[in-house]
Amino acid sequence: MNVPGPDRHALVTGGGGFIGSHLVETLLRLDCRVRVLDDFSTGRRANLPDDPRLEIQEGSVADLDAVGRAAAGATMIFHLAAIASVGRSIADPRGTHRVNYGGTVAVLEAARRWKVPRTVIASSAAVYGDADAALRRETDETHPLSPYAVDKLASEAICDFYRDMHDIRCAALRFFNVFGPRQDPASDYSGVVSIFLDHAARNAAPTIYGDGEQTRDFVHVTDVADALVAAASVPWMPEFGAVNIGSGKATSIRGLWREIATLTGATATPKRASARSGDIRRSRADISRAADLLGWRPQVDLAAGLADMMEARDGRRQTAAVR
Ligand code: NAD
Ligand code: UD1
Repeated sequence: MNVPGPDRHALVTGGGGFIGSHLVETLLRLDCRVRVLDDFSTGRRANLPDDPRLEIQEGSVADLDAVGRAAAGATMIFHLAAIASVGRSIADPRGTHRVNYGGTVAVLEAARRWKVPRTVIASSAAVYGDADAALRRETDETHPLSPYAVDKLASEAICDFYRDMHDIRCAALRFFNVFGPRQDPASDYSGVVSIFLDHAARNAAPTIYGDGEQTRDFVHVTDVADALVAAASVPWMPEFGAVNIGSGKATSIRGLWREIATLTGATATPKRASARSGDIRRSRADISRAADLLGWRPQVDLAAGLADMMEARDGRRQTAAVR
């Protein structure tokens, strides 16, 4: 296996963000050299450790020259930089497209220019939209319901093109609902886990949109980081394509609040609000392809991940301690 090590040099775009910063930690633990390209629009420098093996370049993935400079010498690229807000993509489809699709093309161009052996891009379960079946398989039809999801699907398609036309070894991972330390609860479109934990810690009533029976597949951020490393490390397979990264389990939003309330002792009763427009009813990943292709299986379940997040909050710890 092509496991990262001192002779390996990773570029992580969006490395200052929630998922990216956990990936950087994982790569450094594997003794890999890491370069981060980030414009710090939602990411933070404080998410990144002070480490001589880590180099930070501030710039945009939409800027081909900046990406080209950042990719020089890389043996693997992890492309995570994106405007990750579905709401913002609806409000500003052109601006998000420039970053979310344009950034992917810039990364692939840089991979081609420097002949980077492996590129892994962050896609999303959003590409499935609201399919009837609860269990999402990579072979399912896609129904992107927002400019964000359209850009993720287009990013996967352009990867396929670079793979077929230019022999770029590129894989796309479709993340489901990622949770863990450093997820920012500050906006309405923050992940529900971070919002609920933040409310529970203050014993404030959270809002449940819709009947709360909608389900999600919550996958821990350290498992996602491991999946990214696996996708860059396993022997190349021409049939790579898109791979689901989830826990394989469905949790209702009401059930999530119950679990968090029990864990924290919160007694507040959730407020009810009408369902968000475009809200997906059911979402659960079939993760058999990730197991077959990457040899990856999630290690941190929701209960352990939530308990760790609470502990991290109380101890003002930014890293995950669940593994
Ligand atoms: P995040 O906002 O914490 O991280 C995104 C990072 O990209 C930030 O550091 C931000 O500053 C950076 N960035 C944004 N625009 C940039 C630009 N033009 N140039 C350079 N850097 C830029 O979000 P996240 O949750 O860590 O998401 C990481 C990736 O995973 C994204 O591609 C997102 O679409 C995808 N994803 C996340 C989830 C989830 O549940 N969090 C689910 C599916 C897919
Ligand atoms: C998530 C991702 C999105 C991705 C999509 C793929 C996050 C923040 N968003 O959207 O980028 O495209 O998966 O399927 O990870 N909810 C409440 N109360 C709240 C907040 C949320 O009831 O305060 C509900 C929402 O209505 C939704 C569920 O919780 O039904 C999950 O919401 P959210 O965490 O925002 O994620 P998704 O909408 O699934």
